[in-house]
Amino acid sequence: MPIEIDLSGRSAIVTGAGRGIGCETAQLLARAGARVMIADIDEASARAAAEQIRALGGQALGVRTDVTNPDDARALAQATLDAFGRIDILVNNAARWTTKLFKDMTPQDYDADIRVTLYGTLNVSRAVLDAMMEQKAGRIVNLISDAGRIGEPYLTVYSAAKGGVAAFTKALAKEVGRYNITVNGIAPGITHTPGAQEFIQGAGGEEKLAKAYPLRRLAQPTDIANAILFLASDLSAYMTGQIFSVSGGYSTVG
Ligand SMILES: NC(=O)c1ccc[n+]([C@@H]2O[C@H](COP(=O)([O-])OP(=O)(O)OC[C@H]3O[C@@H](n4cnc5c(N)ncnc54)[C@H](O)[C@@H]3O)[C@@H](O)[C@H]2O)c1
Repeated sequence: MPIEIDLSGRSAIVTGAGRGIGCETAQLLARAGARVMIADIDEASARAAAEQIRALGGQALGVRTDVTNPDDARALAQATLDAFGRIDILVNNAARWTTKLFKDMTPQDYDADIRVTLYGTLNVSRAVLDAMMEQKAGRIVNLISDAGRIGEPYLTVYSAAKGGVAAFTKALAKEVGRYNITVNGIAPGITHTPGAQEFIQGAGGEEKLAKAYPLRRLAQPTDIANAILFLASDLSAYMTGQIFSVSGGYSTVG
């Protein structure tokens, strides 16, 4: 009998899902049967991504959310409960990065990167936790980055913020395991998304960058979304507090 991932009856929030990895993840979760709340600071893209899922027969709603704002995060959790009755899966995907040497960064630059990448993850996680604890079930998947595991030049503050998300992932997993909530992280390598184009071009283009990857290519959003789907599903039930690089072998840290 083929093995299936069936998320029907489950409800998911994906932040920053108006485009890129988040959008691909929302589509995949919906294809597996989940009802998906697409949260993005860009309301038009959140609504368009939800419409795309509905056009393919899935269930999705799009809502404007600024993850840096704890009130928005609480409103997002409430809107999901109102619409779907539960919150089973949270994918903390929204992030922001400034590509500069650290010596050229201003405190405003680092504030902005840390507020979206780290505080955004804390705000939305905090907002969904009561519902997950009451249900005695939940899956939280945090987008990290190899930058947060091994450090990347030109992405120093982003590396620091993602390192913070990595430590938060491990610590929260230890707190909430008793409620049958798992918390894991996915660390993508460079992935073809709208947000990464400037970095890819600035670093010399795909062909040059791909040489650093044992699998000799950069990731597509679907490569990352597949791993998130696994961590959101029952197949990963006994895995928590772990961070997995999905980066074509670029980073092999434990
Ligand atoms: N693309 C890569 O190469 C790469 C590599 C490693 C890790 N990642 C991680 O994967 C995740 C997705 O990256 P991506 O490349 O798809 O990004 P992207 O820039 O293409 O998309 C990010 C989305 O987040 C939204 N967003 C930004 N600020 C927000 C806020 N305050 N509140 C809500 N939404 C907000 C944007 O509107 C956008 O739709 C991020 O966590 C990123 O750090 C990406």
